[in-house]
Amino acid sequence: MLKLGVNIDHVATLREARYHGKSDGEPDPVEAARLCESAGAHGITVHLREDRRHIQERDVWKLREIIKTRLNLEMANTPEILALAIRIKPEIVCLVPERRQEVTTEGGLEVAGQVKPLSDTRKKLNDAGIEVSLFIAPDLRQVEASAEVGAQFIELHTGAFAEHFHQSHERVAELDRLVAAAKQAQQLGVRVNAGHGLNYENLPSLHCVPHLVELNIGHSIVSRSISVGLTTAVEEMLTLMRGYAG
Ligand code: PXP
Repeated sequence: MLKLGVNIDHVATLREARYHGKSDGEPDPVEAARLCESAGAHGITVHLREDRRHIQERDVWKLREIIKTRLNLEMANTPEILALAIRIKPEIVCLVPERRQEVTTEGGLEVAGQVKPLSDTRKKLNDAGIEVSLFIAPDLRQVEASAEVGAQFIELHTGAFAEHFHQSHERVAELDRLVAAAKQAQQLGVRVNAGHGLNYENLPSLHCVPHLVELNIGHSIVSRSISVGLTTAVEEMLTLMRGYAG
């Protein structure tokens, strides 16, 4: 069964818009995580950014306490966040590139150029009992390098697919890249997640990508929740994911 990890960063984005620098305020990402899990989500994803623009450290500690499924912590490969991750012990860490100016994570990790530092981090996290995923573009060179790093998972960046969804030629090309990357990862023994830019319209097209374990989806679910509530927004996404053949 294809699993859904809900990225709740944008719940915190809304809170920070009003309560930045305060120790509480609404909406509460912890309450959102509870609702997502009750609605059937298989995991909760948060990105603790270096600039703390949405999720705060206190959120991650509270989430660690209440999450009953899986906590997926997205983070940059920096010593400060690595040390924190090892203390928090999420089930899985997804290493992502991070640029302060970006609105959201724009590109995938350049794994091929950083095999040694990423392997060192991967080992430290694995030694602490934390699985490791690398967020990469669907690029065969990056898939191979991720296997070399020893990552348990890759998360294929679906941003280009989402961006070109309405241009049929480009959409097919992006889907082909995702299919090829997923097949190669499977052959190399790396498990495959995917995410970024997925929504209620483009999700069904992703069913043709094989070997997917989990999708991480944030913006579209949090946006839809304004109209229908978070429980229904999660349930609707799970319905679209049902029947995935693998
Ligand atoms: N996966 C990763 C690694 C991300 O950085 C993001 C965005 O924070 C997502 C998934 C979710 O993307 P979206 O909010 O577009 O669904």
